[in-house]
Amino acid sequence: MKILVVGSGGREHTLVWKIAQSPRVAKVFAAPGNAGTAATAENLNLRPTDIEGLGKAAKEKGVDLVIVGPEAPLASGIVDYFDRLGIPIFGPTQAATQIESSKVFARNLMEKYGIPCPQGAVFSSYSEAREYLRKQRPPFVIKADGLAAGKGVVIANSLAEADKAVGDIMEAKIFGSAGDRVVIDEYLRGREVSLIAFTDGRTVSAMVPACDYKKIGDGDQGSNTGGMGSYSPPGFFSAEMTEKVARDVLLPTVKAMAKEGLPYKGVLYAGLMIDDGEPVVLEFNARFGDPETQVVLPLLKSDLVDILVAVVRGNLDRVKIEWGSEYCVGVVMSSGGYPGSYKTGFPIQGIDSVDKDVLVFHAGTKLGNDGTIYTDGGRVLTVVGVGRDMVEAREKVYRNIPSIHFDGGYYRKDIALREMDGIESKP
Ligand code: AMP
Ligand code: GLY
Repeated sequence: MKILVVGSGGREHTLVWKIAQSPRVAKVFAAPGNAGTAATAENLNLRPTDIEGLGKAAKEKGVDLVIVGPEAPLASGIVDYFDRLGIPIFGPTQAATQIESSKVFARNLMEKYGIPCPQGAVFSSYSEAREYLRKQRPPFVIKADGLAAGKGVVIANSLAEADKAVGDIMEAKIFGSAGDRVVIDEYLRGREVSLIAFTDGRTVSAMVPACDYKKIGDGDQGSNTGGMGSYSPPGFFSAEMTEKVARDVLLPTVKAMAKEGLPYKGVLYAGLMIDDGEPVVLEFNARFGDPETQVVLPLLKSDLVDILVAVVRGNLDRVKIEWGSEYCVGVVMSSGGYPGSYKTGFPIQGIDSVDKDVLVFHAGTKLGNDGTIYTDGGRVLTVVGVGRDMVEAREKVYRNIPSIHFDGGYYRKDIALREMDGIESKP
């Protein structure tokens, strides 16, 4: 088979890496990919949102299956377009992607079908939103309805901050029409986890759970980022909890989508808060997580392509999906200054000098004509260690990161640190 992966981040490099291991695969393409995907795939110089260009390239290259990494092309209807072309594609349709692209849609769906979500309300009027805030207690959780590149959620500790957030979103329109409506949620405490599942619209199969670190600084300080690291599986989230979420959240959601006339196929990602053993959905995503994918797919023992094909064909119930019992830690190396302004174009040294069993997934990297790899984005690499326990996985990553160097390179030192308490290295 020939498979095209759409996107250019660490998630997409991980997909390319796993797909290329399948004996069914003759060739992998990445659009646009990065220096990491270029090592195993042919990079096509096309933007993920250039849907027509991707369609044309897929036809020319004889692509048998397309996998979409980021949300923007899904929300723009890439799946609908490829369906019309008759080229198999993995992912939800534009209408089904609303589960991610509209927080109002997701909230209404969860409320209608009794899927656990925070108390909250939807507003299309600025003054009504402000009035509502005055009846609530801080912290306030304010969410722009539409896609806002991961920046659409504000946790405000004071009424003044909350007013400003609502004003920025609804009046100043800092996210454009994504801010025509807002959701105001009750603030939930607890532990956050991402549970991502494959689904063909009838069967749901959860992957191993993962935690990501969204803040730039150690101790969860500073600005939000696309994600600075992740690990799998978190100790607080048992196999029974995975089953419970699959049964009480993921399957009911997929069934609800079918009932609404929006059959859902692809990956369903639930961002959950676990409080007192009870999971509540903070958000759904219609795609693989980044950087969760970098620590989840290395634990998948089965052939990913068998799963992707079964999802597209609608017979996921016939595939046995096996996960390893190891632990995985991924640490993102970013450009100095990220998530603010940063420079790119610095040579990266030492990627090849890491231990053989350490994985280095590329994101913002570019291959120079001289064969040198250069930085080309905010998040540059995710370095991943797999171990028999979290201690070993973590130790592997942090022992190897210093071998990799680029000017201004930065990484968090505390990824998976909270898992260390009470865990002893097995002999
Ligand atoms: P979302 O994109 O909806 O997942 O929100 C981004 C982040 O905001 C989440 O990962 C949480 O850390 C936080 N968050 C969202 N909703 C809530 C909530 N209702 N209570 C507490 N934190 C929240
Ligand atoms: N890691 C969060 C996301 O992929 O949305």
